[in-house]
This record gives sequence, structure tokens and C-alpha cells, in this order.
Amino acid sequence: MNDLGDLYQEIILDHYKKPRNAGRLEEPTCSASGDNPLCGDKISITVKKSGDTVEDIRWKGAGCAISTASASLMSEAIKGKSESDIHRLFDKFHAMVTGKGIYPEGTVILKQKFFDAAGTKTDFYTGMRKREWGYNPELGDWEFFTLDSGGLTVTARGKIESCMDCHSKYKTTDFVSRRYLATKPDTER
Ligand code: HEC
Repeated sequence: MNDLGDLYQEIILDHYKKPRNAGRLEEPTCSASGDNPLCGDKISITVKKSGDTVEDIRWKGAGCAISTASASLMSEAIKGKSESDIHRLFDKFHAMVTGKGIYPEGTVILKQKFFDAAGTKTDFYTGMRKREWGYNPELGDWEFFTLDSGGLTVTARGKIESCMDCHSKYKTTDFVSRRYLATKPDTER
């Protein structure tokens, strides 16, 4: 096995044998539970929040080594973090394991539309901007907009239905066709 494989196995085994933050909090401010009927894994989580921050967390679960280690790693990753940091972390992790949501918040993509077939006169611009988490979960939190030919005046913006209809086809590439993109997205947030 390669070094990364060894490291991966070492971490999983370590967390499986010595799970961190296992148990239940007596007076949690939030709790949740879930199960995966396909493999029988179960988990319940209790959290104590102070303001916006996860002050303490405990989890109880029944599942395989990977599931136990994942819960343990997750509890360590979010303990002491603010809700928005946790959302960001979730997005990043989700993007990693599903291949979706690859553009970070704040990304702006502009596309020039031309009047003539020769592609010399600009008609208008279309654009999409990655908004904050929760803005538009169905469409990857993108906001769509159009600019006039000068590129300075916003002529429409928001959850524009017609744009969303078409761009929903590119779900696996974060609602971006990628055809005209010159640079690779920065996947590090
Ligand atoms: C008829 C389907 C359709 C509609 C409607 C549509 N788009 Fe697109 N859009 C595409 C396709 C296909 C591409 C890639 C090919 C191209 O550029 O023509 C694209 C490309 C883009 C791009 C460049 C990034 C990328 O995905 O490659 C932006 C930005 C964009 N569209 C924004 C918008 C906005 C804003 C609207 C609404 C005003 C809109 N689009 C409406 C199909 C559509």
C-alpha cells in the first residue's frame, strides 16, 4: 500500500479504537440522529452551543469501523467552530465526496454574448455569482445576473428562472458548463 493509504488506514484505525467525543451530553442545546438503512449504520449526536459556537459535542453510534471513525473525526473537526465555519467545512467535504459544489463562495463567472456571428459586437453579458451558503440550495447557491453591452449596468439579477432551468443540467459540475472556462476553479476554501 502507498504512504497515503497507510496514513488513511492508520487514522481510521486510531479513531475506531479510541473514538473521540463518544457518548451523550446531559443537557444538549441541539440533537439529531440518522441512520443508513442500506448498511445499518446509526448515529445520534448531541451538541452544546454557546452563541454561534459548538462548545461541546458527543455522538453515539452503531456501525462499521469507517462509520465510527468518521463520527469521531467529524466531532473533532467541528468542536469549537462557529456555525458558518461548520457550514463551510460541510460544503468542502460534500464537494470532495460528491464532486458537486466545486466553486467557492464569491466566485464570479462572466460570459460575453455577441450580436453578430463574427463575434465582434457585444450584445450583453450573462454572469453567475456564488452566494453564501443557503442562498439557493437547489441551484448550488448561485445568483444569476445580466449586464448591458457596456458591462457596467446590471439589467437583471437573482434567482432568474430561465437561467436556472438551463443551468440545472450541469448539476455535477456545480451548474457551470465549463465549456468556456479558461482557468481551473480554486477548490481550496
Ligand atoms: C438555453 C439554455 C440556457 C439558458 C436559458 C441560459 N444559459 Fe447560461 N449557458 C448555457 C450553456 C449551454 C452554456 C455553455 C455554452 C455557452 O457558453 O454557450 C452557458 C454558459 C453560461 C455561463 C458561462 C459559464 C458556463 O456555464 O460555461 C454563464 C455565466 C451563464 N451561462 C449565465 C447565464 C445566465 C445569467 C442566464 C440567464 C439570464 C443563462 N445563463 C441562461 C445554457 C443556458
